[in-house]
Amino acid sequence: MANSKDIYHPSKEVVDYATIKDYDKLYKQSVKNPEKFWADEAKRLDWFKPWDKVLDSSNFPFYKWFVGGKTNIIQNALDRHLTNANRNKLALIWEGEPGDIRTYSYHALSREVCEFANVLKAMGVRKGDIVTIYMPQIPEQIFAMLACAKIGAPHSVIYGGFSHEAIAERVNDAKSRVIVTADGGYRRGKATRLKEIVNRAMEIAPTLEICITVKRTGEEVHMENDRDYWYHDLRSLPIAEKCCCTEEVDAEDPLFILYTSGSTGKPKGLVHTHGGYSVYTSATHRMVFDIKPEDRWWCAADPGWITGHSYMVYGPLINGATIFMYEGAPNHPYPDRWWKMIDKFGINILYTSPTAIRGLMRYGESWVTKHDLSTLRLLGSVGEPINPEAWKWYHRVVGKEKCPIMDTWWQTETGGFVITPLPITPLKPGSATKPFFGHEIAVVDETGSEVGPNEVGALVLKKPFPGMARTIFNEPERYIETYWKKYEEKKWYHAGDSAKKDEDGYFWIIGRSDDVIKVSGYRLGTAEIESAVVSHDSVTEAAAIPLPHELKGNAIYVYAILRDGEKPSKALEREVKDHVGKVMGPIAKPESVSFVDSLPKTRSGKIMRRVLKARALGEDEGDVTTMDD
Ligand code: WTA
Repeated sequence: MANSKDIYHPSKEVVDYATIKDYDKLYKQSVKNPEKFWADEAKRLDWFKPWDKVLDSSNFPFYKWFVGGKTNIIQNALDRHLTNANRNKLALIWEGEPGDIRTYSYHALSREVCEFANVLKAMGVRKGDIVTIYMPQIPEQIFAMLACAKIGAPHSVIYGGFSHEAIAERVNDAKSRVIVTADGGYRRGKATRLKEIVNRAMEIAPTLEICITVKRTGEEVHMENDRDYWYHDLRSLPIAEKCCCTEEVDAEDPLFILYTSGSTGKPKGLVHTHGGYSVYTSATHRMVFDIKPEDRWWCAADPGWITGHSYMVYGPLINGATIFMYEGAPNHPYPDRWWKMIDKFGINILYTSPTAIRGLMRYGESWVTKHDLSTLRLLGSVGEPINPEAWKWYHRVVGKEKCPIMDTWWQTETGGFVITPLPITPLKPGSATKPFFGHEIAVVDETGSEVGPNEVGALVLKKPFPGMARTIFNEPERYIETYWKKYEEKKWYHAGDSAKKDEDGYFWIIGRSDDVIKVSGYRLGTAEIESAVVSHDSVTEAAAIPLPHELKGNAIYVYAILRDGEKPSKALEREVKDHVGKVMGPIAKPESVSFVDSLPKTRSGKIMRRVLKARALGEDEGDVTTMDD
């Protein structure tokens, strides 16, 4: 178990190499005057026109940053590198699952992005139009995102594991006219069939008029006239070849919408901006991972999630790093695929999730130790609390006890790291350690009073910061309700996680305190899972809860009430599981489905998931006075 006395001090070598040597001093300055701290960071970037005001907090909680500033994230992520020493530096190294390799310098990446942007323009995409992207992990996924940003069209990237219904729900909310996809990608030796899924989504997403498909696998796909276009056909048009000017946008203009699960069934479209998000992702990435010009950085996430947006694409490109991207499964064809690629490409920093580490850990050390991982300098973890066993294995076997582990706590909402070590921070396995600069963070009770050391409470962020999502697309009221209502008087952000702070000021995240489940680091809502279960003909009611799982962190357990006349059976259990996998996508497939006669509920009819969980774990049910008998 996690132990607040178990401390790993950085070696002299690590401290000597680190750019930031005094966290406490810089932290104190940053919270004394956060606006100055963030303005200094913003000054490191290019602006078409500087801001008039750093922070406008007149309309709480709708903060505005760098008000009056004109920019575009592409000016900083690409354009400025073309006139400096990064022009011919590798921006992207990509390896496909079958072993094919593609590389792009900053210059080459910029050309690809210009061509993609011109294709989008030719398809009628204009500033402000939301473009949906549903792609495998291939370079074109990044080109498409950057192309949208370049022309000021916010992107809405949907994770390639989601179902056609999940796509349609998001497209209908965003009212996208154009969707970018691929015929498929490779995963565990098989070609996925993304375009087929998009075709089914298009039947129930009436705003979609145009689908641009990148050819990756060459599998047969169904295409319709005047609706479907191959990307390679469009890019061979004369207009695509030209250079494309980067659109000047307002600092507060939306860069993207990213849908994430919340406590009701409908996913929340979080909105991030060009200005504040550029500053926040680049500053956090540069400082926490102490990015040096020669670094090769691998964020082993999918661009379809916030981690991919902030730390695979935008933050590292703004910092002029070389990014590595891999298409497929970590254990294909053998469990040493990752270690082999780190060796082959000389990766310096690996940023991944506890689930991935636990998954690779079970194959044993020899798959790791047969490769030369001596280029690794730092390691990172994100997505869920890392159990100390996995932390220690990662530290010892992968990092050879010389690479500090940056366990970064943050959320889709925050845009970037919030609680995180720096390379010089003494580490405690399982703790994300301390607040990043500019943040004041506390663990509080219902009334907002800080709880004592090592006591469990709600995690709150006390200060506004430029990376924070500005609103929920189409639902500003829900934005207030979800994050700001609870501690409205104090103007604190309610993160939805329960946590503890120990006697040394280290934060220990326990997990979600709301109806969100983290499965393998993926964020899913109980309400979404339950409505998928209930959409099966045999089921009338259902409750979904997370229970601890050795590899996935949490697994989904479903309790379902059958319709009159239906009989519970193993076959029906399997059918319901598969049904959920189909409706939501494979990641949401429950571990177990149990058929029950009733569910514990409050008198007002709310399912008491807490009670189900306690029963399943054989724990005390706690306060059940509100339970309906
Ligand atoms: C959890 C992922 C413990 C947390 C970037 C948070 C973590 C949710 C950590 C957000 C960490 C993320 N330690 N828990 N280092 N990082 N979480 O929006 O519960 O997919 O609220 O963003 O993941 O998930 P999201």
